[in-house]
Amino acid sequence: MQVITTKQELKQRMQACKQEGKTIGFVPTMGALHEGHLALFKRAVAENDICVGSIFVNPTQFNNQEDLIKYPRHVEKDVELLASIGVDFVFAPSAEEMYDANEMTQTFAFDFQGLDSVMEGKMRPGHFNGVVQVVSKLFHLIMPTRAYFGEKDFQQLAIIRYMVTQSELKNTFGDLQIVGCPIMREQSGLALSSRNERLSAKQKNIAPIIYKTLLESKQNVKSHSVQETQNAVIQQLNNVQGLEVEYFEIVDKTTLLPTNTFENAIGCITVWCGEVRLIDNIQY
Ligand code: PAF
Repeated sequence: MQVITTKQELKQRMQACKQEGKTIGFVPTMGALHEGHLALFKRAVAENDICVGSIFVNPTQFNNQEDLIKYPRHVEKDVELLASIGVDFVFAPSAEEMYDANEMTQTFAFDFQGLDSVMEGKMRPGHFNGVVQVVSKLFHLIMPTRAYFGEKDFQQLAIIRYMVTQSELKNTFGDLQIVGCPIMREQSGLALSSRNERLSAKQKNIAPIIYKTLLESKQNVKSHSVQETQNAVIQQLNNVQGLEVEYFEIVDKTTLLPTNTFENAIGCITVWCGEVRLIDNIQY
C-alpha cells in the first residue's frame, strides 16, 4: 500500500489507474478508523480493481473548534489497518496541502435545495458546505468509479448524493456511484463512531440506551403519531442522567423534511453524552 501526501502525486497515480482501465473505489474518512470504516473499505476492495482511502480531519466542516482539536487522530495505526485489508492507496495530506489559504477562510457556498437547513445542518451551520468542499475536491483528484459512505451520517449521504446529480458535477464525475452502507454497531447496539473513543467507561454504559430507545420507538408505528413518537423518544432519553438530546426528528428519507407519516420515514437523532456528540438513526 502506498501513502500519498500530495495532490499532484495522487492525481498522477489515479490518472495512470484510469488509463489502464481500472475501476477505483474510494472511501473518504477523517481517520481514527473503526470496524464501521473497515466494512466500507472491505466492500470497496471487493467491488473495485483499486481501493483508495483518504485520512483527513477536515477543518472546514467543524463549526466548533474544541471538537476539531479533540477529534481523535492516530494515522499510523490507521495506515497499518488499511494495509492489512488490501487497500492500495491512502491519501493523507496536511491542511496546507489540501487547501489554498483563501479556501480555508472563504465560505464555500453550495445550494443544497434545503437539504442542509434541517437537523445537522441547522445545528452545525456551515458543516455541510465544508463536507461538500472537501469531498468534491477529493472526487476531482481521484475520479472514483464508486465512493462509499456510512448510513450513520444519513443527511451527509443524502447531500453527497444530491451534489453528484448537479449538472456541472455530473458531467465531471461521469457515472460515479455513491454507495450507502449500513450502520455498524457495537454489541451493545451503540453505533460505531470515531467519537466513541472519547467516552468514559460510565458513558459507554449509558450511550447504548440511544439505540435501544430508537428500536423501541418502532413499536409505536401502529399506535402513536409521528409527533407522539418523537416526543416520547426525546423525553425517555432526557430522563437518562448523562444524556441530552440535541434533536430527534422523524423526516422523509428523500426530502429530509418533517413528515407526519411513518411511510418512507427515518428518525435522525443527535445526543450529547457528556461532551461527546453522538449521532444515530432508525428507519421506520
Ligand atoms: O464522514 C466523514 O468522516 C467526513 O464527513 C468526510 C466524508 C470524510 C468528509 O470529511
